[in-house]
Amino acid sequence: EKGGYEHFMLKEIFEQPKSIADCMRGRLNASAGELTLGGIQNYAEALAQADRIIIVACGTSWHAGLVAEYFIEDMCRIPVEVEYASEFRYRNPVIKEGDILIAISQSGETADTLAAIELAKAKGAIVFGIVNTVGSSIARATHEGAYLHAGPEIGVASTKAFTAQLTVLIMVFLKLAKRKGTIAESRFRELLIELESVPQKVEKALKSDDQIREISELFKDAHNFLYLGRGYNFPVALEGALKLKEISYIHAEGYPAAEMKHGPIALIDENMPVVFIATRDSSYDKIVSNIQEVKSRKGKVIAIVTEGDVLIPKMADFVIEVPATHEALMPLVSVIPLQLLSYHIALMRGCNVDQPRNLAKSVTVE
Ligand code: F6R
Repeated sequence: EKGGYEHFMLKEIFEQPKSIADCMRGRLNASAGELTLGGIQNYAEALAQADRIIIVACGTSWHAGLVAEYFIEDMCRIPVEVEYASEFRYRNPVIKEGDILIAISQSGETADTLAAIELAKAKGAIVFGIVNTVGSSIARATHEGAYLHAGPEIGVASTKAFTAQLTVLIMVFLKLAKRKGTIAESRFRELLIELESVPQKVEKALKSDDQIREISELFKDAHNFLYLGRGYNFPVALEGALKLKEISYIHAEGYPAAEMKHGPIALIDENMPVVFIATRDSSYDKIVSNIQEVKSRKGKVIAIVTEGDVLIPKMADFVIEVPATHEALMPLVSVIPLQLLSYHIALMRGCNVDQPRNLAKSVTVE
């Protein structure tokens, strides 16, 4: 059942070229310039008319929501708020009739996310679900939605669900941008073609597995890790840190790289590993300066870079290459080495990778 892999988590990490392709099958036709989302029909016009969008989720699904915030604002020009379901539901949020709420959940059973949906519906919001588990409570509670089609995720640490959530969110909001006319046809076409090539790029990113295992050996005894990224890679930094802490029990924090100087920089010394997600994008020059700031304080830098980068390898202690893609799609690729890093470190520390202590796959308690 683990398909020859030692753990479900590893199987699910390596499955991603396929799960992302499955998630696009029958939906994305790049050569025809078409996106078809059967589950979003009746309320598609309401979505196009939205003044704002509220996204609710927990954990890794909340990180997918943060990537979506950048994407929706960039492509659709609609303001987005991303909320932890548990905070949103208890703080008397402002929701008006016709507001759009998007709930993201792998299991479809997360109690706080479900309660946030019920609250929003009671106030007249239209709720869309981005859910993996067919027929789950959240799928049933929403008005419309799109399933991930990623297949069951068994490992407690969410991996393939995260990349499938991003893929679905990108498809939904590219389609919306096209409908609203907030994206140029050429850019739309270019993104569809690029999206179609993501499974091959993920496949290539997985080839760093041996190198990541070697790096993990050197850092497995660290007590702390910092993960830094900017723009679309900021939520990836949060996700990398969450993966590491939940399965290896090493304390890790994710931050926007520019926030480092507002506090976390005080933590940096020769014992602090800092993982930079520093692929080539519009904030590349800025993140290069952040790497220099860490190196000048003797921090150990592990950088995720775009293939062929010649500058960062001169500064960083270790570089892990990923294939180039459009910056809005990069989280689908740049998260892969971080999933592998957490897996190998946890394994080397003797942790139960598939069933970390204190965690359940579905959090049905509030
Ligand atoms: C992290 C993880 C959790 C879940 C969170 C939400 O690897 O698995 O943080 O992402 O509990 O779960 P779902 O997506 O099922 O609502």
